[in-house]
Amino acid sequence: MVSHTVLRLTSQGSLDNIAESQEPRPSAGKHEVLIKVKSVSLNYRDIAIATGQYPFAVKENVVPGSDAAGDIIETGEGVSGFEKGDKVVIAFEPTTLYGPIKTWKTALGGPADGVLRQYIAVPASAVVKIPESSALSYAQWASVVCTGTTAWNALYGNNPLKPGQTVLFQGTGGVSITGLALAKAAGATTIITSSSDEKLEHVKAKYGADYTINYKKTPNWAAEAREITGGQGVDYILENGGSGTIKQSLEAIGFGGVIAIIGFLSSATQENMPDVASLTLSKGAVVRGIMVGSKQQLEEVVRFIGERDLPVPVEKTFKFGRDQVVEAMKYVASGQHIGKVCIEF
Ligand SMILES: NC(=O)c1ccc[n+]([C@@H]2O[C@H](COP(=O)([O-])OP(=O)(O)OC[C@H]3O[C@@H](n4cnc5c(N)ncnc54)[C@H](OP(=O)(O)O)[C@@H]3O)[C@@H](O)[C@H]2O)c1
Repeated sequence: MVSHTVLRLTSQGSLDNIAESQEPRPSAGKHEVLIKVKSVSLNYRDIAIATGQYPFAVKENVVPGSDAAGDIIETGEGVSGFEKGDKVVIAFEPTTLYGPIKTWKTALGGPADGVLRQYIAVPASAVVKIPESSALSYAQWASVVCTGTTAWNALYGNNPLKPGQTVLFQGTGGVSITGLALAKAAGATTIITSSSDEKLEHVKAKYGADYTINYKKTPNWAAEAREITGGQGVDYILENGGSGTIKQSLEAIGFGGVIAIIGFLSSATQENMPDVASLTLSKGAVVRGIMVGSKQQLEEVVRFIGERDLPVPVEKTFKFGRDQVVEAMKYVASGQHIGKVCIEF
């Protein structure tokens, strides 16, 4: 029997509850492909799942991690369109091929076993090829899975972004900087916020943000965003803070703008919650919940990024193995990172 290394979360509550074991290596079923994982990109969700803060059900003894890039090493007899050696990424929610995600029950690394293992067999229908000519690394491609699809959905999933519009990104995490790269390539004006001047300088220099605001020094960052836009307000906000930042977002958004509700990094007390319904109405705005995105959206963002080799922001990598993965997750949990943190196999 051929075995491979698998990480599992033995119980929720602590990042230290991740354990390593040897398990039989899977093979490709009739309609599946077997993928040798080359890189896994971490998300804040992985930390929330391990520490028990994730608001949705988690499978017992789950294999964590949702975002992988790798090579196909075996194809099932019923598979066409893929062959051994193809470089691929796997959709975050393998059953939603198009349209809105309709369930949280099948997403990888939470309700279903994920990708922190050396080999994974998945339905061929859930897999997207990486462009052969791509100069991006496996880590960068793995980072497109959840983060890239989410940012793409936020900008194109409903009211598509137009060149010349202004997009504001909250914080310097993966969703924000990937969104920044997409929006800049689409001709938008970009504003990014952070708690750190140092991070803002780095993001401006490396990813070309047009404007930066330190939200700690400028708690009323909405006023500054409005000033930047000549009083018009911004057209899109990638809302990562959640209830703790929605008040400022509703002030910063322009008439007819879109607030894409993505994250839950800060929370407001009930008394401090603004009247979202009235404020949305008064701006004719769209406040839209984002659930990552479909495989079709993954395909779209892979094509857009692949054609331009956009700078997917992988800023730090760790090696595969229990201790290094726990260290990587602790690093993400500490909030020191910029962009994406990945695991190399
Ligand atoms: N709905 C979905 O489908 C979906 C998909 C992906 C991610 N998410 C969620 O979206 C959020 C961001 O994900 P991520 O992967 O980009 O996380 P991340 O890489 O861990 O980035 C988090 C960053 O957000 C910034 N931040 C924290 N609190 C903030 C606040 N109050 N206001 C503004 N910025 C704040 C911080 O940046 P600075 O250090 O620069 O201040 C922090 O480093 C998370 O809550 C994640 O769970 C949701």
